[in-house]
Amino acid sequence: MDRRRFLKNSLAAATAATWGSAATGRAWARPAERPMLPLPGLVDVEKSGRLDLTAQQGRHTFGSGTVSSTLGYNQDYLGPIVRAQRGQDVAVRLLNGLDEPLATHWHGLLVPGEVDGGPHQAIDPGAVWEPVLPIDQPPSTAWFHAHTHPHTARQVYAGLAGVFQIDDGRDDERGLPHEHGVDDFTLVIQDRRFDPSGRLDYRLAMMDRMHGFRGDHILVNGAPYPRARMPRSIVRLRLLNGSNARIYHLHFDDGRPMHVIANDSGYWPKPAAATELRLAPGERLEVLVDFRDGREAELVTGPDQNQGGPGMMGMMSGLRSTASALLEGDMPVLSFHPAGEKAKVDRLPETIDDELPAPPTAFARRRHFTLDMMLGGMPMMRGMMGGSGGPTMGINGRPFDMQRINEQVGLGTTEHWTIESNMLMHPFHIHGVRFRVLADESGQSPRLGNQGYKDTVLVDGRVEVAVDFTQPASRETPFMYHCHILEHEDAGMMGHFNVS
Ligand code: C2O
Ligand code: CU
Ligand code: CU
Repeated sequence: MDRRRFLKNSLAAATAATWGSAATGRAWARPAERPMLPLPGLVDVEKSGRLDLTAQQGRHTFGSGTVSSTLGYNQDYLGPIVRAQRGQDVAVRLLNGLDEPLATHWHGLLVPGEVDGGPHQAIDPGAVWEPVLPIDQPPSTAWFHAHTHPHTARQVYAGLAGVFQIDDGRDDERGLPHEHGVDDFTLVIQDRRFDPSGRLDYRLAMMDRMHGFRGDHILVNGAPYPRARMPRSIVRLRLLNGSNARIYHLHFDDGRPMHVIANDSGYWPKPAAATELRLAPGERLEVLVDFRDGREAELVTGPDQNQGGPGMMGMMSGLRSTASALLEGDMPVLSFHPAGEKAKVDRLPETIDDELPAPPTAFARRRHFTLDMMLGGMPMMRGMMGGSGGPTMGINGRPFDMQRINEQVGLGTTEHWTIESNMLMHPFHIHGVRFRVLADESGQSPRLGNQGYKDTVLVDGRVEVAVDFTQPASRETPFMYHCHILEHEDAGMMGHFNVS
C-alpha cells in the first residue's frame, strides 16, 4: 500500500465519527502575549572536560499557568546545551534521578557502541552512568535524548532531550556567528498537546500509535510560539526537530531565504539558499538568516503531510483542538524581532568549509531494509474486536528484539544501504555513523536538505545511502538503526548491529 492510499483508507475509517469537539482556539495566538524564547544554559565543557547530568522529574508551566509533570536533564524540561571541542574527551557523569530505568543516547556523536547509550545501556533509578566520550568529528549540532526501550517516546515527550554542539574554535575564520543567545540561537522545535486545563497531555489514541503522536501547539525550547530578539545582522539558527513524529516545513512568512550552512553531521562548503526547509524528527539544520533590514518576521511551518488529514486524529484522540490545528495551513513557530544593536557578522560568508569529497562508489556490502508498519494485521481492526495495544512494527518483517542482533558490519568499511518505506514517510536514523545520501525521492541527485553528511534521513519511498562504519560496537552494546518517529521505534521499527 502506498502512502496516499493508506492515508485515504484511514481517513475513511475515521470519518465514520463526527468531530464536533474541535472548536477551541489556541491560548497563545496573540503576539503580545507570546513568551520570550527561552535560552537554555550553555554548558561549555572545553576546560573541565566533565559533563554532569541528572535526569530528574520537574514541574513546568509551558506558559499556561497550569503546572505539568515533566522530565529533564538538570532542569524541569529539556536539558542544557552542551558545547564540546573537537579533539577532547568528555567525562560524563549521568545520575538517573527518575523512578524508572533510563538510557541516554548521544544522537549524532561518532563514539563507540560501549558509550553510545542505546537501549542496552539503561541504568536503574538512582544509578550513575559514567561514559567517556571521545569527541573527534567535524563541528556539528548533535543532541542527546532518552532511549529506553520501549519508553523512548514518552520519556522524550516529557522532556528528556538536550543539545550537544561540537565546536572547533574556527567559526570566526569561517565568518559564522557563534555567540550563544546573541547571534547564534539553538532552537529545539517540538509539538505538544495540552488538555483543557493546560496540562501536558500524552494519551495515545490508536491514530497516534499508527501515525506517531502530533501536538497542536508548536514549542521552541519548551515555550509555545515564542518571540525572540536579535541584532540587525546575520543570525545563525541551529534547528533541531525534537518532536516525536511531526515533520516541519519551515519558511518565513515574508519569504526571506534561509541560507543552509550545515545539516546533521557538519558544515557545507558554502551556504545554500532555500525558502522552505523540511525537517524530520531527529534531523538538524543550521541556517543563516539576514535580519539587517530590521524587519520583524515569523518562522512558520506548513502542514505535515504524514498525518492523514483533518478530522481523523482529532476524532480518534477526542481532544480539543487537534482537528482545528490540522485544518489550518501554516502554524507559527517563532517570531523574530530584530533590534538596534550593532551587527557583529554583517555579511554572508561565501565559503564555509572544504569541498565535500565525491560520494563513495565502492562498497564492502549492500543491505536492504524495509520499514514495516503493520506486522500481524491492522491493529485498528484488532482493537475494534476487543484486542489490546497498538500496532506491531518492524524492519524486514521483524519487530525489534533486544536479544537478537540483526546485522554484523565490518569496522572500517563502507556499505550501501537501501531503505524502503511503505504507507508513511519514516525518518531513518543510524547510530555511530555518518552517511551520504546517494538517492532519495527526487532521484539520483538528492534534495537540498539531503546534501552533506547525515545521520538521519527521511525515507519517502526509497532512499540509498553510503555509510562509513568507523566506530566499533560489540554484541553487548550494539548500535541501533530505527525510525525516529518515536511511537514507531517503540512499536518495534528498530534493529541493531555490531561493528567489528
Ligand atoms: Cu535519536 Cu536512536 O536515536
Ligand atoms: Cu543516534
Ligand atoms: Cu516510522
